Amino acid sequence: MKTILNKAKFLAMTALMSTAASAAMAANDGIEVNHLGANNTLVRVTGQGRYLMLPVQESNDEAVINIIVDGKAEGKINVRLAKNKVDHSMPLDLQKYEGKNVVLNIVTKHDRTSMREAKDDAAWNNITLVDSLNLENIEVYRPIYHHTPVYGWMNDPNGMYYADGRWYLAYQWNPYGSKWQNMNWGESSSTDLIHWDRSITPAIEPDGLGMVFSGSAAIDHTGSAGFGDDVVVAMFTSADASQVQSLAHKDPQTGQYVVYEGNPVLTLESEARDPNMFWNEEAGQWVLTLAHALDKEMLIFTSPDLKNWTLQSAFGKGLGAQGGVWECPDLFPLNVDGTDQVKWMLVCNLNPGGPFGGSATQYFIGDFDGKTFTADLDADGNVPTKWLDHGKDHYATVSFSDTTGRRTVIGWMSNWQYANEVPTLQFRSANTLPRDLALFTAPDGQIYAATTPSPELEALRGQIVAQAKNKSLGTKALTYSLPASNRGACEIIAEIEAETADSVNLIIGNASGEKTVVSYNPTDNTVSVDRRESGVTAFSEEFPAVTVAPAFTADGKVTLRMFLDTSSLEVFDGKDGRFVLTNLVFPANPYTTLSVDAQGGRARLTSLKVYSINF
Ligand code: FRU
Repeated sequence: MKTILNKAKFLAMTALMSTAASAAMAANDGIEVNHLGANNTLVRVTGQGRYLMLPVQESNDEAVINIIVDGKAEGKINVRLAKNKVDHSMPLDLQKYEGKNVVLNIVTKHDRTSMREAKDDAAWNNITLVDSLNLENIEVYRPIYHHTPVYGWMNDPNGMYYADGRWYLAYQWNPYGSKWQNMNWGESSSTDLIHWDRSITPAIEPDGLGMVFSGSAAIDHTGSAGFGDDVVVAMFTSADASQVQSLAHKDPQTGQYVVYEGNPVLTLESEARDPNMFWNEEAGQWVLTLAHALDKEMLIFTSPDLKNWTLQSAFGKGLGAQGGVWECPDLFPLNVDGTDQVKWMLVCNLNPGGPFGGSATQYFIGDFDGKTFTADLDADGNVPTKWLDHGKDHYATVSFSDTTGRRTVIGWMSNWQYANEVPTLQFRSANTLPRDLALFTAPDGQIYAATTPSPELEALRGQIVAQAKNKSLGTKALTYSLPASNRGACEIIAEIEAETADSVNLIIGNASGEKTVVSYNPTDNTVSVDRRESGVTAFSEEFPAVTVAPAFTADGKVTLRMFLDTSSLEVFDGKDGRFVLTNLVFPANPYTTLSVDAQGGRARLTSLKVYSINF
């Protein structure tokens, strides 16, 4: 049985993420440790307990843990086992091996030749057996209202679909550490896109074909794949020495993914990953977009049954941003300017090569005839590069399948430049808030994506903790309070008019001088977010940054709708969704104030509302 946690249970459960000190008390109860060499140790489970807690020291090299059950190799995981100190512990779930002999043959990678030294590793004294996990949050930077994994590392959102009133969000998950490794799919689900029931067991685990990399899920209404009518099918990349494409379907009885025994269903002679498929009703066949990563193009295939694929076309060679590998595609139709005109959007995540360094999401607008995507050209006859989000922390964004009348996307709120280094331990990385997409025609005649926070987010609004109307702005800032609860997490809606000012600045800060500055600059008609002094930034020299988005306004007026959580700020165009900037911020102390000023002239704060978060 898969264990699902709702928030109440999440808080009520007792006992994981032990510190070195508390874990040491029970060390080696029911565990036998035998050292075989300077870098080889056998750990045998002799006692009872559902979870074997593996002590982790993040700065160490990965040890290879070969899991042997009744003498047979069950698989291996790579874990940064503790040498000098225990940062936190990660659970190895033993439930499926109940009643069997479990032995771990562990190969560490330390520079040493004597077994005596090996015996001193902190891992051996702190490895424990426990019956339940203490999942209580131990992190100040754990978001209040953004989705995070219960523990461990997370990157891309995967296998997103909507069915029977629930949103399903799978994700790239390392359940054995807080850095990228051991890719499984974790999965959460929600009825409102805000409160997520999070699983603590993997949805799809690595197998003989390799790790489980990114992919998509869709409902196979006609049963074309042979798994049954209306069955959820996932397609993902199995990644080992090479990358191949695999299928799994959800058993309607158990709700669990069952990996297809005929995998792989698609192989190529070069690196290709992150399959994203949809059913093309008109043509009566599946369409698959696959990232031909190193070739920096997207391949488009069709299939009658998800198992036999025909390559139809390739898009993107030499087009758009080409500074890094192309990953995580998505392809879907959207209406233009709220009319019946339909254009197709090809989402193409890119790493590195984003506008502010590292990872980012570019997209192309064009037409799709069932086999080939053709991008619209700009006035000069070129294919323009467009960015879905102008912050630094928006990657691997793709959409939910099987929605009606809306296209909802979620991204991974980080950047490969520093994702493994951000200042959290128990878990690493959150998702962006859910957003709904539309298309609009900009003054330059081009069609762009409009991004609006999903309507469900309005339910998060709590008390109004600060508000203002029609205030004249100058160099002397007007200062308002942020909520005292939830480390200042809030929604801020500010309508501003630049009048004669060169810039209007909204400074989210605290008494220690930490600040994130959101500015509207009417001269070049941009909105920027400056996080250079936002708090803890030194973990990577790529982190302090100013990111800038075109505001697309014509009249010097802009409405900013901003979502602040414990470690992120998402700034949307609150009127038409014409820009969005998503950035992580790690204030050492919570932000407490919002100060608004204008430089170089007068401006107007037409309206301001600051809502606490009701989660
Ligand atoms: C994007 C990505 C994907 C890949 C996954 C592996 O962030 O590199 O291309 O499938 O992460 O975790």
